[in-house]
Amino acid sequence: MPILRAFAVISLAAYVSAQSLSSTCTSALTSVALNPDAAACLSPSSLIPIATGGANQSIIPPINNWLTAVCGAPACSNATIAAVVTNITTGCATDLAATGFTSDLTPTITTLVEQYYPTVRQVVCLKDGSTNCITETLTNIEAVVGTLSLTNILAIVANPPSTIPTNITCSNCIKAAYTIIAKNIPSVVSDAAPALQSQCGASFTDGTTPSGISESATDAALASTSSKAAAAGSVAMLSQGLVTGLAASGLVLVSTLFTLLA
Ligand SMILES: *[C@@H]1O[C@H](CO)[C@@H](O)[C@H](O)[C@H]1NC(C)=O
Ligand SMILES: *[C@@H]1O[C@H](CO)[C@@H](O)[C@H](O)[C@H]1NC(C)=O
Ligand SMILES: *[C@@H]1O[C@H](CO)[C@@H](O)[C@H](O)[C@H]1NC(C)=O
Ligand SMILES: *[C@@H]1O[C@H](CO)[C@@H](O)[C@H](O)[C@H]1NC(C)=O
Repeated sequence: MPILRAFAVISLAAYVSAQSLSSTCTSALTSVALNPDAAACLSPSSLIPIATGGANQSIIPPINNWLTAVCGAPACSNATIAAVVTNITTGCATDLAATGFTSDLTPTITTLVEQYYPTVRQVVCLKDGSTNCITETLTNIEAVVGTLSLTNILAIVANPPSTIPTNITCSNCIKAAYTIIAKNIPSVVSDAAPALQSQCGASFTDGTTPSGISESATDAALASTSSKAAAAGSVAMLSQGLVTGLAASGLVLVSTLFTLLA
């Protein structure tokens, strides 16, 4: 799963470097957060508590609040996605250079993000009953590995538990996520099916959505930019919260998938 592997590496790099972003990168992230269109569909200010909450606090409550905000908001338009990608790849070019990024990749990255964004949004907005599936999965993982605080996450990723119980890795939520990804972007999961079937049973890859699972992503297109951008006073915390929060939660989920597919 090369895309997941790349994502894990980038998440780890982002997590480690979140404290030491260049000033042009920080201001690019700030301009994204203050842009009304981007703020309306990405709700970056919901992640500020990750940066302000203290390194020993679980990241799950702020992640859950962010998911509630993002899934209830209209999707980003392609124009907004393109502006966000351009601002970040321009402002953070030196920060991204370590991942092999060069500026001529920006159009390719923009197209990839535009293509994958609807699927990612569909997956992160899945619900099991009234609980968001990411929240449920992170809560289940937390019960096994201990508090998912910023201090603990790196230790956990460096020294992962040898097994995550299959009632977590083979849950209805993960099956529903697999079903969506296999339908929309088959290449991402094409080589995962045999491992998943041996771990979770043949029915895991039957292409059905388990009962009790629903999609909560709002379908409405962004009509106007009436919602407020992040309050200027908290902007200083914003880029750190944004990068740290997304990187940390991505890291947890991706390392769980690796455990599953190992
Ligand atoms: C991109 O950056 C420009 C210049 O700082 C800013 O005016 C604009 O709102 C930003 N747009 C997005 C979507 O981030
Ligand atoms: C986090 O917990 C560790 C170990 O219990 C403690 O030494 C440290 O001071 C705590 N840090 C914060 C920010 O509360
Ligand atoms: C957004 O861009 C992607 C890739 O460039 C394209 O496949 C998709 O149809 C576009 N979506 C809309 C709503 O225009
Ligand atoms: C998974 O199974 C274990 C052992 O039966 C149980 O203690 C735990 O609560 C279960 N976890 C979930 C998320 O169902």
